Amino acid sequence: MSKQVLILPGDGIGPEIVREAKRVLDLVNQQDDLGLSFAEAHVGGAAIDATGVPLPDATLTAAKAADAILLGAVGGPQWDTNPDFQIRPEKGLLGIRSNLGLFGNLRPAILYPQLADASTLKPEIVSGLDILIVRELTGGIYFGQPRGIREKEGGIREGFNTYVYDENEIRRIAKVAFEAARARNKRLCSVDKANVLEVTILWREIMEEVGKEYPDVELSHMYVDNAAMQLVRAPKQFDVMVTGNMFGDILSDAAAMLTGSIGMLPSASLDVNGKGMYEPCHGSAPDIAGQNLANPLATILSASMMLRYSLDAGDTADRIEAAVSKVLDQGLRTADIWSEGTEKVSTSQMGDAVVAALSA
Ligand code: IPM
Ligand code: MG
Repeated sequence: MSKQVLILPGDGIGPEIVREAKRVLDLVNQQDDLGLSFAEAHVGGAAIDATGVPLPDATLTAAKAADAILLGAVGGPQWDTNPDFQIRPEKGLLGIRSNLGLFGNLRPAILYPQLADASTLKPEIVSGLDILIVRELTGGIYFGQPRGIREKEGGIREGFNTYVYDENEIRRIAKVAFEAARARNKRLCSVDKANVLEVTILWREIMEEVGKEYPDVELSHMYVDNAAMQLVRAPKQFDVMVTGNMFGDILSDAAAMLTGSIGMLPSASLDVNGKGMYEPCHGSAPDIAGQNLANPLATILSASMMLRYSLDAGDTADRIEAAVSKVLDQGLRTADIWSEGTEKVSTSQMGDAVVAALSA
């Protein structure tokens, strides 16, 4: 039976980068006889323009029916001024994550040796870097109730959000993180703010409890402020990091820069059964949208994660990752990872090169 992949290009650079990933998927689908079939739908600003809402029912239905989802990026200034906060592009993305229960977000930050010069950190600090951030994606302050902007006494407005996790939510992300650490270098650092926030005191307690089932994995804890500092001071001390939704959002952007560019970072967001949505960690970059400048590699690597985690095609994923490494060896670089002595290429030329490497 064929496997359904839903493609959600989204906004800004989304359509350009997804186009290149789709070319790669079409090629390997044929070469490796994967039996994939593809459908496309609107999400985010594109969906607001087409239907009035960021997550149309048709998109949600298609997402539920698909075996896997590949998403570009959402958001842009033209939608940021809508006074109705529900009609924002980001709500489309958050709506898919929460409606599909995609709580387990894997964000690997790997420095390709060819890009050691592209990092803003000294090569000796980042060379050989290979860390995995496991971010809880459907809870925490992103979704906690109550939330809003209200007026208090004296007509003073106040904004408020709720940072809440129950023990089951913590337990299931802990298991994802411990399993990932077990399959890697068996070190897990849980990031919290347990010196201030009760919700993360519980987080730490549950991490310890789940840790008893994984005696082979060394568990440590770090406050998020220190974790941010350690990521830029000595990132290679980490193997797997696990943290809540908002801390994970912030730390994964920081980790991205260690690898030279956020344009290199893929991600997987998985439900309890391993079904997932795959997207680059970066945003929609409206400033360069439509100019054929964006780096498509994070999306191509996200497609590769999709093949590995949701479509049972690990060998094909290996081939795509080898092809990406080969084009970097050839010295091809989009603007975000370009440095003196390498060849600057466009989005589509980078896609051409990966396709050529896969065909060779
Ligand atoms: C990410 C993004 C999203 C998030 C935005 C676009 C809602 O920054 O995937 O990291 O905050 O989760
Ligand atoms: Mg983010």
